[in-house]
Amino acid sequence: MASTKMLEALNKQVQREFQSSYIYIGMESYFSEIGLDGFANFFHVQSLEERDHAYRLFNYINSVSGKVELETLEKPKCDYKSPLDALEVTLNHEKFITKSINELMDLAVLEKDHASISFLNWFVDEQVEEEESMDKIIKKLKLFKDDPRGLYMIDTELANRVFTPSTAE
Ligand SMILES: [Fe+2]
Ligand SMILES: [Fe+2]
Repeated sequence: MASTKMLEALNKQVQREFQSSYIYIGMESYFSEIGLDGFANFFHVQSLEERDHAYRLFNYINSVSGKVELETLEKPKCDYKSPLDALEVTLNHEKFITKSINELMDLAVLEKDHASISFLNWFVDEQVEEEESMDKIIKKLKLFKDDPRGLYMIDTELANRVFTPSTAE
């Protein structure tokens, strides 16, 4: 059984994961419009992953006798200055999510809520991967800079990403 405070914080994270999902659909729209279908696919999968994260929290809240209250989502941006701009916004957003997960973990530790600590560990690891993968794409984009062949190569690579539900891992 999680505390009321813990449940409220977990509920807030449900909203943040759904908001992340929505932000990445906005990026999918941007990349589709400029013809980078591989990047669009990458953000489509990214969006599905965030929805999966939201449901992971949703199910946990239910399993500890809480109830999810869905919050309003903000309108996401569907236009960016460049692919690099979109990826930098993504990395910054993921850093914000990492901070949010860390705060949840701090609360679980403070409350000696071992079930929530165990549950949140998955998210801590996931955020390391998220920041790493965005950072790698940013590095490649900077490396190729204005070379369209480089951009095409990254786009081809990102077209291969497929969605796997985290529960199937
Ligand atoms: Fe997430
Ligand atoms: Fe994420």
